[in-house]
Amino acid sequence: MNFYAHITGWGMSVPDKVLTNDDLAELVDTNDEWIQSRTGIRERRIATDEQSTATLATDAAIHALDKAKISPSDVDLIIVATSSPDNIFPATASIVQDSIGAVKAGAFDISAACTGFILALNMAAQAIHTGSISTALVIGSETLSRFLDWTDRSTCIIFGDGAGAFVLQASEEPGGVLSAVMRSDGSGADLLGLSAGGSYYPASEPTIHEGKHFLFMNGKEVFRFATRVMAGATKDVLDQADISLEELDWIIPHQANRRIIETAARRLKFPIEQVVINLDRYGNTSTASIPLATVEAAQEGKLKPGDKIVFVGFGAGLSWGSLAVQWTGPLPEERRKVWPYRLLGLYRFYVRLRSLLLRWIRFWEGLIWGRPPRQ
Ligand code: ACO
Repeated sequence: MNFYAHITGWGMSVPDKVLTNDDLAELVDTNDEWIQSRTGIRERRIATDEQSTATLATDAAIHALDKAKISPSDVDLIIVATSSPDNIFPATASIVQDSIGAVKAGAFDISAACTGFILALNMAAQAIHTGSISTALVIGSETLSRFLDWTDRSTCIIFGDGAGAFVLQASEEPGGVLSAVMRSDGSGADLLGLSAGGSYYPASEPTIHEGKHFLFMNGKEVFRFATRVMAGATKDVLDQADISLEELDWIIPHQANRRIIETAARRLKFPIEQVVINLDRYGNTSTASIPLATVEAAQEGKLKPGDKIVFVGFGAGLSWGSLAVQWTGPLPEERRKVWPYRLLGLYRFYVRLRSLLLRWIRFWEGLIWGRPPRQ
């Protein structure tokens, strides 16, 4: 039997704290006119001390489940794409799994910079195609503000924090994820990244003094690479899905820079009005940028069931990719398991209690047995 992976729920979460270009001009030698004309960005959101990649991801996930009207216990798999995980390990996805009470789900992270969300969607869709799972939660979440050098005007003006999530559900109806392109060129690994804190440059006093825990970027080279690959990846994924450019309703690109997006649209001869752009309000939120743009487009009523959409992204690695999708929207009422979302507060309380109880049991087992708890 053939299963198709349909996007049936979506949600987003951004911090309330807004950092405008004028605010940045008080930190570094820059100005609103320069930032807007070179990037298209007006403002971005910055996580508060209480927020993290996992908390933003959790909020986005709950909104997506609410939209799809399914319960967290229906989720088989959670994938979080992120470049700013809460920890090197455990996976941020496991923290989300515990926070939302997805008691049946497996969970892992994908690290492929801004291309990560596309790869995560494709992995989840493939698992659905094979029949191995039926429901997945795919999240892009970032708090890159924690890794920026706020004295470096070439990077701190670009990035912002936020999270977006999709619910993918199996259906025998054709549609949903149609095709995918995944590419990488590791010879460009030195153009964009964050080098310290891993096994090659473990955290040490010198790595801190040398600023190796901050994101670095060769903006010009990344710009050239991005404009080269975006149009090609869009064409390739359309060819694979046997869709012509004329049949395409929307392109939802990674929101890095308005000029990159406009150049790609020009190369494709695709109308810019059919390209979803919201980077003016959020900056570059890396893996979260494609779901954030999609959620806003859906909320504004732009995306209609049956619309053909290409998601296309690029980022550190270097990496790039694209995904062709036929938009579905929530499954018909009779096929949804209606989840009493007014009880969400109660459910989250239960989930918290359950997690504390499991920790408490583990603690007492350790004390009683004097060795690691039994498996
Ligand atoms: N404010 C004012 N002036 C600035 C700023 C700033 N924030 N930053 C740089 N400048 C100056 C430079 O010093 C330079 O001055 P000079 O001519 O006197 O030397 C001048 O402006 C031009 O600098 P460029 O670096 O050539 O500016 P450019 O037009 O290339 O724009 C930018 C820089 C916005 C970073 C652009 O290169 C870009 O967007 N690149 C792509 C970045 C990107 O998409 N990264 C994300 C990838 S996704 C991921 O995986 C995270």
